Amino acid sequence: MSNFKLNVDNAVNFTFKNALDKLEGEVLKSIKTLNEKNGDGNHFLGWLNLPSTISEEHIVEIEQTADFLKKEVDYVVVVGIGGSYLGAKAIIEALSNSFDDLQEKRNNPKVLFAGQNIVEDYLYELLSFLKDKKFAIVVISKSGTTTEPAIAFRLLKELLESKVGKEKSSKLIISITDKEKGALRQLTKIEGYKSFIIPDDTGGRFSVLTPVGLLPIAIAGFSIRDFIKGAAEMEKMTGPKVPYKENPSAIYAAVRNALYRNGKKIEILANFNNKLVFFSEWWKQLYGESEGKDGKGIFPASVYFTADLHSMGQYIQEGERSLFETVISVRNPKNKLTVPEDQANLDDLNYLAGKRINDVNKMAELGTMIAHIDGGVPNIKIEIDEISEYALGELIYFFEKACGISGYMLEVNPFNQPGVEAYKKNMFALLEKPGFEEETIKIKKRL
Ligand code: PA5
Repeated sequence: MSNFKLNVDNAVNFTFKNALDKLEGEVLKSIKTLNEKNGDGNHFLGWLNLPSTISEEHIVEIEQTADFLKKEVDYVVVVGIGGSYLGAKAIIEALSNSFDDLQEKRNNPKVLFAGQNIVEDYLYELLSFLKDKKFAIVVISKSGTTTEPAIAFRLLKELLESKVGKEKSSKLIISITDKEKGALRQLTKIEGYKSFIIPDDTGGRFSVLTPVGLLPIAIAGFSIRDFIKGAAEMEKMTGPKVPYKENPSAIYAAVRNALYRNGKKIEILANFNNKLVFFSEWWKQLYGESEGKDGKGIFPASVYFTADLHSMGQYIQEGERSLFETVISVRNPKNKLTVPEDQANLDDLNYLAGKRINDVNKMAELGTMIAHIDGGVPNIKIEIDEISEYALGELIYFFEKACGISGYMLEVNPFNQPGVEAYKKNMFALLEKPGFEEETIKIKKRL
């Protein structure tokens, strides 16, 4: 049962009169375009019905692969970047103990990440750490040609082969890539790696519910079944027959576009929970890559409160009024802890003695919301009961669906990312990659 709740009351009053009613036609048109698959990027809509169509057989195959790795190794390095990294990282971070890195005994392999940067020290330190550890590699790349994961994979593969030999290492490397195209598919065939397919019709940032997200989440010991169930519930809650005002993704898309048209160009995703920091990173990619094009788009930013109230809080309260805030609010913690009584009471905290820490956090949340609204920052509130696989599945699908609707309202293609190529072209030219000779000459003249 879903306890997901969206509240836009404190945002609509910052837009034009009757904004939700006025935008109904546009939202319904965007939903129709998505469902009928006749808009820009319509070849990348596989994610739309993914939660309700994942087969039992597919889930079992992912779980069995995770179980095999659990038996064999203590660490699994997931290699990938962007959509081939952020979803798994977001969900694993959200569900893990905050001090997971320090646990000495664990029931599941620790999932480490590489390929999301080109930092020599990071890679050196990772290789040094793994030298005497039992580890496996899950290498994820849809294109199979992305530079960052390719470099990390080369190094990790070399280390693994030198540790356990070529034959054993080929059992400890799992690839997730396109079914035919790309260097990673080719290598998979040559080396005989166990492999999963990233469906053709699902772009990187919409691929959390494919093996790209599901395998690392299962390896880390979390229930991919509950995660998929949550997403499937949200698929129903935002389905084609749900009336406009009852469809949370439709309303979220409508309100953020109304705010944007009223000069609110920056959306800050805020949370009051350290476990959701990487969820915001996933969300930033989803919205930034989907909407930021053709000189348009809301800039997606994020904050983690109360920590950032002591850094970004000042700007949000009194800086340029071009912001709105979307808060993910978690009703219940998993554990119970109260503020202790102290006889000396030098810190004057005894008025809180016996109170749940979460109650204090909730008052910080409410106080912040009221202060920011008073300061001219519209507030959208998303409430979930707890940080669980189910609730995260709901959130993921809610944001994906809203992103598709919102992108079409903005009249951009939400499913491409042409701008990402610009840095790659320059980097290849500067590195003198074969095939980039002309670009190399041109760029060197500019230095
Ligand atoms: O959303 C996207 O499509 C991108 O962020 C990609 O996921 C990212 O560039 C990684 O690409 P690949 O999986 O091809 O290595």
